[in-house]
Amino acid sequence: KKATKSSSKVVLKSTKAKGTKKLAKNSFPEDFDWGCATASYQIEGAHDEDGKGKSIWDVFAHTPGTIVNGDNGDVVCDHYHKMEEDVKLMSDLGFKNYRFSLSWPRMFPTGDVKNVNEKGVDFYNRLIDELVKYGIRPLCTLYHWDLPQALQDKYGGMLSREFVNDFKAYSEKCFEFFGDRVKDWITFNEPSCICVLGFGLGMHAPGKADNPGEDVYLSSHHLLLAHAHSVDVYRKKFKKTQRGVIGITLNSEWWEPASDSAADRQAALRGMNFTLDIYAQPIWGDGEYPKSIRDAAGTRLPRFSLKEKKLLQGSSDFFGLNHYSTRIGGAPKLSIALQTLPREIKTLTSGMGSYGRVLNAIKPMINPFQPSYFKDMDIVSYPDPPGTEYTTMGWAVAPYGFRKLLNYIQKLYKPPGGIIVTENGLATNEPSPESAKADTNTTRIPFFKAYLEEMRKAIVEDGADVRGYYAWSFMDNFEWSFGNDKRFGLVRVDYETLERTPKPIAHWFTKLMAKNAIPK
Ligand code: NOJ
Repeated sequence: KKATKSSSKVVLKSTKAKGTKKLAKNSFPEDFDWGCATASYQIEGAHDEDGKGKSIWDVFAHTPGTIVNGDNGDVVCDHYHKMEEDVKLMSDLGFKNYRFSLSWPRMFPTGDVKNVNEKGVDFYNRLIDELVKYGIRPLCTLYHWDLPQALQDKYGGMLSREFVNDFKAYSEKCFEFFGDRVKDWITFNEPSCICVLGFGLGMHAPGKADNPGEDVYLSSHHLLLAHAHSVDVYRKKFKKTQRGVIGITLNSEWWEPASDSAADRQAALRGMNFTLDIYAQPIWGDGEYPKSIRDAAGTRLPRFSLKEKKLLQGSSDFFGLNHYSTRIGGAPKLSIALQTLPREIKTLTSGMGSYGRVLNAIKPMINPFQPSYFKDMDIVSYPDPPGTEYTTMGWAVAPYGFRKLLNYIQKLYKPPGGIIVTENGLATNEPSPESAKADTNTTRIPFFKAYLEEMRKAIVEDGADVRGYYAWSFMDNFEWSFGNDKRFGLVRVDYETLERTPKPIAHWFTKLMAKNAIPK
């Protein structure tokens, strides 16, 4: 089968403006897009099959001490071999939109587009055809963290300017191969996680933490430029014929000020600047990095040329947002830092395989002489209000922050094309299939209900232009450095038998999507 095979048409919906008037109680705007999401390395398995090259995550996960329980993505859900079954289940559950990502090294084992692995391309052709067959609209992420290891080895991956050209060439090939059927594209998933966890804390691949005062900024800078060039090539060469849209997905918690004091409000705002606005402002704002970051980082933060600024501004047709939790942020105070440090360390250690790595990650943060992104941010997490519940990731359940974040984005950037929530969800403690069933009734449904109610208020009462929502995740999968025990799925995966079983939350979503309203 040829890589560029074309198939049936998908209806283009994404550019439609959506109304928010006179909605029945609990319901969402007509044409609101509901979906679920996954990512290649987290579900596919088949890590060395059919000519696939290694990604930085294959190498990182195979390094002792990086992942809880020594888990990895070698097999996980084995979606590569169970793709048809998975798409059918998705359709049976009523999903009409599915967000997935492409593995760059599966299609281009060395990262170089001159060297195509037809079998890898064929897998995605079959996946997309299968989705189209069931009337499920694909939302395709080009980069969800699995960079070809060959490019990491060749020039240090995102730390090099060369990454920009290679990403552009790679994305151009993807538009060429799949753009006849994929009409909705995301360039990068979660720049902040890529750069901060991968180059600041060393908790994610490529696992660097030795120069966090420069590497976080440099990787962010190259990522933004790669995004802008990829969008530019899509708009110049493909948009007219393929008639799709392209954007980026940012992640952000909501930083709630610890008090009304000016110092705490400024600190919380810095939290937003360093997580969200560092990527959002160049794209939806004035094309520059936020002033607070420029002031703190000085020349360690690269500058955009005028030409680059122009390329970046307006380079996203929608605002993709991943949101999970809220943190209380305030001006640094030693007494507060000492109170909250045990929690922070606990989260870090439970996400990292060994204490050695944690210590390595923390060293630059506390070394008074080494510049660090974390020191620049100059904020302390304050304790959560009494009674706060946490997911098994240790993330506070605080739905109000979702509404505030959507409003923050709407007011600051008024993104043309609206906001698409490309991920939201939780991991709960479910060691057995039985506990998955019980747990879902006490934790999952209330979580989604509360978060969706806040999103609904943001849309209906506050006027936030939110046009879609994708639950993370379709099925349990490999949760990066936390391994397989953190189960985010709507569908349970038995990692021994690979059996899929929808949890009660999956059926709850079926009802939600059928009525376009939050079930009672
Ligand atoms: C963000 C990432 O995009 C996804 O890969 C991850 O599994 C979820 N959040 C949960 O942490």
